[in-house]
Amino acid sequence: ALAEHMAYFDRLVADDQRIEPRDAMPEAYRKTLIRQIAQHAHSEIIGMQPEGNWISRAPSLRRKAILMAKVQDEAGHGLYLYSAAETLGVDRSELLDKLHSGQQKYSSIFNYPTLTWADVGAIGWLVDGAAIMNQVPLCRCSYGPYARAMVRVCKEESFHQRQGFEILWTLSKGTDAQRAMLQDAADRWWWPALMMFGPPDSGEKATEGHTAQSMAWGIKRFTNDDLRQKFVDMTVPQAHKLGITLPDPDLRWNEERGHWDFGQIDWDEFWRVLKGDGPCNAQRIATRVAAHEDGAWVREAAAAHAEKVVARAAQ
Ligand code: 3HC
Repeated sequence: ALAEHMAYFDRLVADDQRIEPRDAMPEAYRKTLIRQIAQHAHSEIIGMQPEGNWISRAPSLRRKAILMAKVQDEAGHGLYLYSAAETLGVDRSELLDKLHSGQQKYSSIFNYPTLTWADVGAIGWLVDGAAIMNQVPLCRCSYGPYARAMVRVCKEESFHQRQGFEILWTLSKGTDAQRAMLQDAADRWWWPALMMFGPPDSGEKATEGHTAQSMAWGIKRFTNDDLRQKFVDMTVPQAHKLGITLPDPDLRWNEERGHWDFGQIDWDEFWRVLKGDGPCNAQRIATRVAAHEDGAWVREAAAAHAEKVVARAAQ
């Protein structure tokens, strides 16, 4: 029977159909999805922190309202993703424990600080821009609950990307000091945004990695380097529109390839940040753990309320 189930799984993948929670699946497929979806969910909720840092200091009421809505969207994305992970037989509290104890990762990008208001714009433009490039193909991921969650997440992310660009566009037409702030933010966020796509596919800095297997299973649709290149190609003309430079002397249009060439990414920095040694790793986890502990009474109250509802319905 197991062989039959696995043949069914293979057929679904080969036909580009969706795998649903009721379907039998190889244990390694389930584990890969839990790893990726959990990491993705953790990124959404840790990603609230760098932007939350600016809610009280946004330059106008309108900017404050937009930023609050955006940060709430990220919380919502985290919740859809934890729910998607739960369909694979894990519990949300177990995933949160693993985040808090460092056994599961979140995106490297959220370990960098937001020093100025322009950083909020740069996060929308570059970080959410990179996130969309990576997540649109996930709407076609072979695992149904993850793919469906991604549809709404991507719609909201495109709004976030545009609001980020609009912040920067406004700064680009401002004073010299505002333009300098914009340039400084782009200088600091450019390379970490390129690292978001994960380690390179080939070359001496490549690692064993999950890409080949994840592509065979229809979880990933493109390699890390392919998505990174698409992102660079999309973003360089936008930087020109903003009237800024990107901090890469090797960035030039390659007529033959039909793509922008770009310089070497500092992969040692990437692995250092993943190991916990980025500018804000300790602060991000400490803030998250404190928020979790402070929220214990809300979880207890919700559970008590749910019990009452069940008891009342049974009367
Ligand atoms: N940050 C942290 N870890 C990363 C990483 C990054 N930017 N990129 C890769 N890694 C880790 C992988 O998790 C893997 O670690 P492990 O083997 O110890 O588990 C290792 O580096 C090797 O990388 P691979 O490329 O082989 O790993 P994947 O096949 O999982 O690919 C990925 C990495 C492309 C990031 C993929 O997991 C993915 O598409 N994830 C979903 C998207 C996501 O998580 N986005 C998070 C940032 S965007 C966001 O949160 C939205 C924002 O608006 C708030």
